[in-house]
Amino acid sequence: MTPARRVILDTDPGIDDALAILLAVASPEVELAAVTVTGGNCPLDQGVRNALGVLETVRSAVPVVPGVALPLIRPPFTAPETHGNSGLGNAQLPPPTTPPAQDHAVDLLVREIMTAREPVTLVAVGPLTNVALAIRRQPQIVERVHQVIVMGGAIDVPGNTTPLAEFNVYVDPHAAHIVLHSGLPLTLLPWDITSQVLLTQAHVDALLTIASPVTRLIADATSFYIDFHREYFGYAGCSINDPIALALVFQPELAHYAEVFVDVEIDSPKSIGKTIADAQGLWKRSPNVRLVTGFDAHAFLELFTARMAALAREHPARS
Ligand code: RIB
Ligand code: CA
Repeated sequence: MTPARRVILDTDPGIDDALAILLAVASPEVELAAVTVTGGNCPLDQGVRNALGVLETVRSAVPVVPGVALPLIRPPFTAPETHGNSGLGNAQLPPPTTPPAQDHAVDLLVREIMTAREPVTLVAVGPLTNVALAIRRQPQIVERVHQVIVMGGAIDVPGNTTPLAEFNVYVDPHAAHIVLHSGLPLTLLPWDITSQVLLTQAHVDALLTIASPVTRLIADATSFYIDFHREYFGYAGCSINDPIALALVFQPELAHYAEVFVDVEIDSPKSIGKTIADAQGLWKRSPNVRLVTGFDAHAFLELFTARMAALAREHPARS
């Protein structure tokens, strides 16, 4: 078996962020070095508590490292209607007993990427504020990092936050601009793809046949998320965006890609946060992302639910 890939997961936990954390812990192909947190779905401090609570549910000692609370320029913008006021829907986790790491996410990102023996993979599934400031803190991370997989943007579909913009990019479009123009080896997983990958109540009910705090967490978090997606998008399930980004670390063959130049609008009040892919090369700019253009949703959902079931069996409910 190929050695595990060392991964930093940058998050705004968030229901689907929590599922990405669980999938990272459940995947032997991933050595989860740290979970870094930024403001986004919920305020930073709540996101840090949520990440700690999720990792304690699976008795993981992976460090949780707080990052930047607010976007670089835009006012803070959270998503309680999507993730609940707690950030984890209806999940009721006990207050975490583990403290967050005495570190800062920007410093952790720079130190890990610059000193790791093997090049590190960064999976960014929240607003890109921490990543943008890490680039400014140490530009050489651009050459040292193995791969940066970003869940964000809406290319050929309406946004999920404005008619044009996807949440992660909308919250901090200036950070997204820095990242897109940095030269990082970017794989971009847009809302176009993730909005089609739906975890349904049937998936959750099957997991609930395993008595475990893991399945309880998944069921309680996604019950809120499924209701939101039904009400706002008419979906028969919830788009679990973030674990898809994590899965691309070790199963890139689940997707199809195109090398494209992608930019982001940062000036127009109406279209700020809109990601634009120049598929025809009209701007004569070199491609800056490997854009996910297709995805095997069925195979991913099989992988995800199987790994969640295995993780739940490792953590049975206490009788
Ligand atoms: O638009 C979906 C993305 O924004 C996901 O990462 C979700 O968790 C929110 O951060
Ligand atoms: Ca997220």
